[in-house]
Amino acid sequence: MAITKIEQRYIDLHPESLARYQVSKNLFPNGVTHDARRLAPFPIYVTHAKGSHKWDVEGNRIIDYKTGHGAMILGHSHPDIVQSVQEAMAEGTQMGCSTDKEIKWGKLVTELVPCAEKIRFQSSGTEAVMMAIRLARAYTSKTKIIKFDDHFHGWSDYATAGGSGLGGIPQETLDTMIVLPPNDIDLVEKTIKKSGDVAAVMIEPTGSHMGLHPIPPSFLHELRELTERTGTIFHMDEVVTGFRLSKGGASVKFEVTPDVTTLAKILGGGMPGGAVAGKSDIINLIEFQDDASYNQNERVGHPGTFNANPISAAAGAKALELVRDTDVNEKADAAAAKLKNALNELLGKMEIAGQVTGHGSLLFVRLGVDFEVGSDGASFELTDSEWETVNNGQRNSQIHLALLNEGIDPMSNGTRLIIGQDHSDQDIQDTVSAYEKALSAVRDSGLM
Ligand SMILES: Cc1ncc(COP(=O)(O)O)c(C=O)c1O
Repeated sequence: MAITKIEQRYIDLHPESLARYQVSKNLFPNGVTHDARRLAPFPIYVTHAKGSHKWDVEGNRIIDYKTGHGAMILGHSHPDIVQSVQEAMAEGTQMGCSTDKEIKWGKLVTELVPCAEKIRFQSSGTEAVMMAIRLARAYTSKTKIIKFDDHFHGWSDYATAGGSGLGGIPQETLDTMIVLPPNDIDLVEKTIKKSGDVAAVMIEPTGSHMGLHPIPPSFLHELRELTERTGTIFHMDEVVTGFRLSKGGASVKFEVTPDVTTLAKILGGGMPGGAVAGKSDIINLIEFQDDASYNQNERVGHPGTFNANPISAAAGAKALELVRDTDVNEKADAAAAKLKNALNELLGKMEIAGQVTGHGSLLFVRLGVDFEVGSDGASFELTDSEWETVNNGQRNSQIHLALLNEGIDPMSNGTRLIIGQDHSDQDIQDTVSAYEKALSAVRDSGLM
C-alpha cells in the first residue's frame, strides 16, 4: 500500500525510532514486547518520562495518555516514588524473607479496598486473575467461570477465552469458561442454574477494555445480588479501575462490594505488582492446615519468587499512601473532565460526528457516529454497523500516527486516553490543538 502523507511525516519525524525498529523487529515478534505496543509502520522509542510527559529518542516531548497502560496515575517519575525505590534498592531487592514493606503495602490495600479482608501479592494482573480463578474453583468446588464478551483479564489460558490470540490454549481449558454478552442478567441467571457448575462471575467493572464497550453500573448491582443468591463468587477485576475511579476503585464509586477483587497497575506505583484480595475465608484457602492430605489436594498453592518484592512493595505502598492522603483521583478526574468537554467542543466545531465519553480519568474517543449517553454516564446503544464505524482500524491508526506527529501518545489508536494527576491545563490545550491538526490531516486524507 502507498505511504500516506501522515505516515511520511511520521517517518520523517522519527528516523531514530525507525533505526531502532530495524533491530527490534529481528529480536521481538512485531518488534515489540507487548501486543498493544505494536504500531505500523514502526513504534516510537522513548528515553525518559516526567509527570505527564515523555520524550522520544528524537528528543520530541510527548504528552502521554498511555500513562503506563494505566499504572501511572501519579505521573511519571514521581519524586516520592523515586526516593522510595532508591532507598529500597539499596536495602536489598529480594531477600527471600518477609519484610515490613509488604506489611505496610498490604495494610494500605485492606484500608482502601472494601472487600479486602485478606490479600496475597503477585507480580502482575494476569497472575492475580489466575489466582482468583483458582480460589473461586477451590472455594465452591465448581469449575466454570462466567466472563463477558471481550472483557480483558490478562493473558492466561483461562482469561483469554472470549478474546483473541487463542492459539495454544487447550479446548478443554476454554470449555471451562462461559463467555456471555454483558448487561443481560436473566441470561447470567439462566446460565448459572442450567450449568450447576459455575464457580464465579468475573467482570471488568467499567466494561470491556477499561470501558470501550461500557456497562451500566446497575449491571454490577444485579450481578452482586444474583451471585449472592446463587452462592457464586463475584469477582470484580479492578486491575485498571482500582485506586483510579476512586481511592477504593470502582467498588467504592459504584457502591458494590464483590467477594474477590484483583488489583495491579496503580497498586505497584509504577513497578510490577498484582494482588488478589477479598473475603478471608476465600483468600485463606492459600493457608496451610495441620492436615497433610488437605495441603496436598485441596489447598491452593501460591509460590512466586518476586511476590511482594521489596522494590514493588516500597513503590506500591508509597503510591497508595499518596492516593489515600492526597487528591490524586480528584485531580485526574478534573483534568479528564476538562479534556472531555474540550474535545467534545472541538468535534462540534469541526462538525465531526462522535463523542468523548468515559468514567473519571478513563476517556474514550468514539468517532463517526452520533449517540446519546444514558444518565448513568456510561451506557449507550450502537448498532453493529455503528460499532464498525467507531472501530474503523484504518482511520484510527492514521489518527494515532497523526497525533504522535503532534506530540500526543494515546492508547488504542487515538481512541482511549488515560489521564493522570499531572495533566495540566496547558497539556489539555495542547492536546486539543493536536487533535484538531490530527483530525484535519485524517479528514484531508479522505478517511473521515
Ligand atoms: C482488567 C484487567 N485485568 C488484568 C489485566 C492484566 O494485567 P497485567 O498486564 O498486569 O498482567 C489487565 C491489563 O491491562 C486488565 O486491564
